[in-house]
Amino acid sequence: MKNYAVIGAFWGDEGKGKIVDYLTGQVDIVVRYQGGNNAGHTVVVAGKKFVFHLLPTGIIHMDKLCVIGNGLVVDPGVLMEEIKALEQQGMAMAELKLSESATLIMPWHKILDGIEGGKVGTTKRGIGPAYESKISRRGFKVGELLAWEAFSKKLKEQIDEVNWLLEQKYGHSKLDYGQILTEFELYAEKLSGYICNTSVLLHDAMKEGKAILFEGAQGTLLDIDHGTYPFVTSSNPSIGGVFTGTGVRPKVLRVIGVVKAYSTRVGNGPFPTELNDEISEHLRAKGHEYGATTGRPRRCGWLDLVLLRYTTMVNGFDELALTKLDVLTGLKRLKVCTGYEVDGKKYQQLDSLLHIAKAKPIYEEIEGWQEDIARCTSFDQLPKQCRAYVEYIERAVGVPIRYIGVGPGRREIIVR
Ligand code: GDP
Ligand code: IMO
Ligand code: MG
Repeated sequence: MKNYAVIGAFWGDEGKGKIVDYLTGQVDIVVRYQGGNNAGHTVVVAGKKFVFHLLPTGIIHMDKLCVIGNGLVVDPGVLMEEIKALEQQGMAMAELKLSESATLIMPWHKILDGIEGGKVGTTKRGIGPAYESKISRRGFKVGELLAWEAFSKKLKEQIDEVNWLLEQKYGHSKLDYGQILTEFELYAEKLSGYICNTSVLLHDAMKEGKAILFEGAQGTLLDIDHGTYPFVTSSNPSIGGVFTGTGVRPKVLRVIGVVKAYSTRVGNGPFPTELNDEISEHLRAKGHEYGATTGRPRRCGWLDLVLLRYTTMVNGFDELALTKLDVLTGLKRLKVCTGYEVDGKKYQQLDSLLHIAKAKPIYEEIEGWQEDIARCTSFDQLPKQCRAYVEYIERAVGVPIRYIGVGPGRREIIVR
């Protein structure tokens, strides 16, 4: 029995969805532990593409249990839409449970994110404002939907308050209490069957010997505590979030860091190895680097080993999944960032998060490969230069690369 945590090693979109999908076969339960529908996790099965924002990626494996943990912020409308979309595609869905302690994203959270999220370049899904309300103890927990009278009263009080803010500060039109109440009445009715204490549920499942996969959203460099603050999300995608976001602590847990063979970032904030040339164009075009949630073009650049060593330290990665190696095919020379120069001083490891914004990357060059690798099914079949690239990263970080992505499809993965 093995439990897994699949965690993004950079700024999100590393290909976590595909790795989660691969590993789901080896577990009984898939649980999301943080974030919300700012995530976009892609799985390509037999040429058909699925993108999950809030539902755990395991949802397409109908014999599994999927859990939305207490650490998430949940937009109930989005959840209903995602369930409906799967049904409309004729997909049988896994069993789903929703934590009573997850925080609801309320309509004003999305409005406020739209107004205030510009500097960071948020997904405007209301994530930050919903987490703010949780931390300030004014939030709505999912379980409150089950106590309707108290919910309606609290909703009235908060709408009165928020209307004052919206009007006075932002010149925004007022929210309509009656309309929102009706909307949430429907959510309460439709979602009540999924709501429970998921910590107890997961704990009991573990006692029965069931294996759990913890599906991270976003990435360690977007972590509110360990990322490139303030250009981060408002949750803990890194390892600590697994425990606070689910309320269980498995004794045996393999922590898998997902890293792209190059780097990307969507939204604002520092990105030392970012490129704006024909290489980044190659990466964006060949890697289809456009956001799975907002459609924004992703910023692209070389792999940054300084940051990978740092996020390996923060999470204690046991192994890595290196995705999108096929996207590098065709480039004559590859560069990897092995150090930073900050204020005239050279560093091999990240001494301070503040260095990221000022870092000039120090690169090493590695030979590229021209052969198509999408059909390779074992490490030995990869071209020599390709294997050298993988082994170079392993040596530099000191963690084995156990999974290698050679294409978007479910089967386009090499397991070593
Ligand atoms: P996530 O948010 O970490 O789950 O990643 P996204 O789904 O947002 O973005 C990853 C994109 O890369 C998706 O379009 C995947 O289908 C695709 N992808 C994943 N692994 C590979 C791979 O090994 N090769 C290629 N070419 N595409 C991949
Ligand atoms: P997955 O799970 C990439 C980025 C946003 C913005 C910052 C804050 O698909 O990897 P937020 O809406 O969370 O307050 O925005 O974080 N961001 C992501 N970038 N992948 C994601 O999720 C992201 N979720 C949020 O672009 O820069
Ligand atoms: Mg994504």
